[in-house]
Amino acid sequence: MSITILAIESSCDETSAAIIRDGAILSNFIANQTVHEQYGGVVPELASRAHMQHIVPVIQAALQKAAQAAGEPANEAAAHTLLQSVNAIAFTQAPGLIGSLLVGAQFAKSLALALNVPLIAVHHMQAHVLANLIEDPKPEFPFLCLTVSGGHTQIVLCESPLSLKVIGETMDDAAGEAFDKSAKLLGLPYPGGPLIDKYARSGNPNRFKFPEPQIPGLNFSFSGLKTAILYFLQENTAANPRFIEENLADICASIQHRIVSILLNKVKAAALTTGIDQICIAGGVSANSGLRNAFTEMGEKYKWKTFIPAFQYCTDNAAMIAMTAHYKYLEGDFADLSASPTARAEW
Ligand code: KG4
Ligand code: ZN
Repeated sequence: MSITILAIESSCDETSAAIIRDGAILSNFIANQTVHEQYGGVVPELASRAHMQHIVPVIQAALQKAAQAAGEPANEAAAHTLLQSVNAIAFTQAPGLIGSLLVGAQFAKSLALALNVPLIAVHHMQAHVLANLIEDPKPEFPFLCLTVSGGHTQIVLCESPLSLKVIGETMDDAAGEAFDKSAKLLGLPYPGGPLIDKYARSGNPNRFKFPEPQIPGLNFSFSGLKTAILYFLQENTAANPRFIEENLADICASIQHRIVSILLNKVKAAALTTGIDQICIAGGVSANSGLRNAFTEMGEKYKWKTFIPAFQYCTDNAAMIAMTAHYKYLEGDFADLSASPTARAEW
């Protein structure tokens, strides 16, 4: 029998729905929320409201695209037929903004109840890691994954799809926050990570030197870097008020270079400590071109097999929730209707 799952992701500011059939993604539809740009960060209340507006059209679009991928016409009737064939509904349970998570969770529960199919609760960070299993080439177990997002920075040891262990994590800011907070200091709008990436492409990464924290083991810290950037900008703009605009590309390239070196030095340490040479990256920051290039080069140097998900599976998306749900379905790991979302969650 074929297994078809509809998955919903709504943990932060992207509303996404995906359909997976027998482990293959048929569709992955994502609606971004632009309403937050003017506020310099995600406003939780506005995020929940936008999820409410987006969730029905996003699920309809995912069903129509999936019908088309399965050889049917992309219309409402085909979407309805596909919905009737769904074997389970999956949703992101944690971590995330509670109001945002509630929208996806309640919708998933209602749909599961209406269709009389089981519900699957998925951990968002686990799903980021399993985004590496969506497309070929896929890593073999055991593998390591550097998971870098707006809220998390972790090194994860993956023994099987559902046996994942965090072996290193940030003690303060996440890598995405380091990008976004640096961008804010430079006067760039939210989310600043992609903009630092863009300006860094034409800059000199060795022009300005920012400190690398000395944190033992496999843990990370980014708060010292943020303070160093703040003082650096204060000193230089006091001497030259046009310092940022005249040197934007070099400043962005130098900040990006340091964030990437902090991340990859710990990946190198994790590979040496565990002896594992299959290494993936995941999460929104894995969309960063500097990180992608340096990670690939490092892999060639140390003879690792490296894996980076396609761009659309790096930032928040429901395909990764669907992939995780597929393995949970095979294990019979279902949630009941009392499953509540939580803002924070241990693995
Ligand atoms: O995984 P994600 O989409 O959402 C969370 O679960 O947090 O990650 C969002 C983070 C933001 O901090 C954003 O600035 C960062 O990923 N990001 C990037 C890039 N694209 C997204 N950071 C640096 N360079 C990029 N190209
Ligand atoms: Zn995420």
